[in-house]
Amino acid sequence: MDTVTLGRSGLKVSRLCLGCMSYGSPSWQNWVLGEEDSRPFIRRAVELGINFFDTADVYSLGRSEEILGRALRDFGPPRHDLVIATKVFNPMGPTPNHRGLSRKHIMESIDASLRRLQLDYVDLYQIHRFDPTTPMEETLEALTDVVRAGKALYIGASSMYAWQFAQYLGLAERRGLARFVSMQNHYNLIYREEEREMIPLCRAEGIGIIPWSPLARGFLAGNRTRDHGGETLRAQNDRFAQGMYYRDDDFAVVDRVSAIAARRGVSNAEVALAWLLRQPGVTAPIIGANKPRHLEDAVRALELKLEDDELAQLAEPYRPHPVLGHGYDHPSGGIALPALAIPGR
Ligand SMILES: NC(=O)c1ccc[n+]([C@@H]2O[C@H](COP(=O)([O-])OP(=O)(O)OC[C@H]3O[C@@H](n4cnc5c(N)ncnc54)[C@H](OP(=O)(O)O)[C@@H]3O)[C@@H](O)[C@H]2O)c1
Repeated sequence: MDTVTLGRSGLKVSRLCLGCMSYGSPSWQNWVLGEEDSRPFIRRAVELGINFFDTADVYSLGRSEEILGRALRDFGPPRHDLVIATKVFNPMGPTPNHRGLSRKHIMESIDASLRRLQLDYVDLYQIHRFDPTTPMEETLEALTDVVRAGKALYIGASSMYAWQFAQYLGLAERRGLARFVSMQNHYNLIYREEEREMIPLCRAEGIGIIPWSPLARGFLAGNRTRDHGGETLRAQNDRFAQGMYYRDDDFAVVDRVSAIAARRGVSNAEVALAWLLRQPGVTAPIIGANKPRHLEDAVRALELKLEDDELAQLAEPYRPHPVLGHGYDHPSGGIALPALAIPGR
């Protein structure tokens, strides 16, 4: 599989990243696979040449990191051939210091993630959301110390407003602090608001773009029904997706994907991923896979060259959406945890 540099950093990543939110414990979300069912996907990803893996402390409250760490130890390539990314921010417990981007939580969280992953360092340590209750300087100084201690090699960010990200970048430059190399944002054929501000900012600043939920959490596969049903457990139970998508114009986009997929004799997933891989600035979509064909489809998408008129047909039914996926309550998959208390808001 082709590798590309992550933004303006020297880090080489495969063009697909395997997201590990679907691996952990079904008691967190019933569509999440347990360890034995998860391991074949991590193994197959390695066989297919994927070297880039994304997880987070909050995914199944640590179980995802444990499963990824064990699987890569058992059948991964040597450590120097792996790029392992995790995240901090979301609540790992009910108390106020067990969440967010304070120095205290970052310092404790990196050690806890490294323990669960059984690693000496992660390649990419990402802030999962913006924390309005912590000064940006405090967060960036703590992340810089994490990098200087050798616990993370690079830092990245995830869904936030472009102005917030621009402030972080400016602060890092002015103060000589660690600079984010990547933006993990919500971007797919039915959520394209990132094209207004965030993507131009990332391209101008040399930030690698690694979109999350490239298939809109399965919606673009074409098997979701208007009554929030469908055959898969995730179709029926992914409340985060159910709260974001399912508008008429979202279904109109899916119809275009299905029509092109039928004409080409490929799957919807291949078409939707091929579109995303063609978008300027996109380094590596972070895919979710819980059935054997999912990984194979994603790899085939790398070879699918959509024609200009097909790209236009896919883009045409899109209508603007409110900002989706920046939230504090359900940032990673519909977990119901107490919201951050934001003074004055
Ligand atoms: N930073 C953030 O806030 C954030 C938020 C969300 C996710 N993420 C990251 O992004 C990763 C991917 O997220 P995601 O799982 O939502 O991604 P996704 O690729 O948009 O959705 C994955 C779902 O799409 C369906 N699917 C995948 N391939 C398919 C195929 N070939 N044919 C038919 N259906 C297919 C499956 O749904 P069914 O289960 O219904 O079959 C699968 O569960 C996560 O693991 C995580 O690492 C980050």
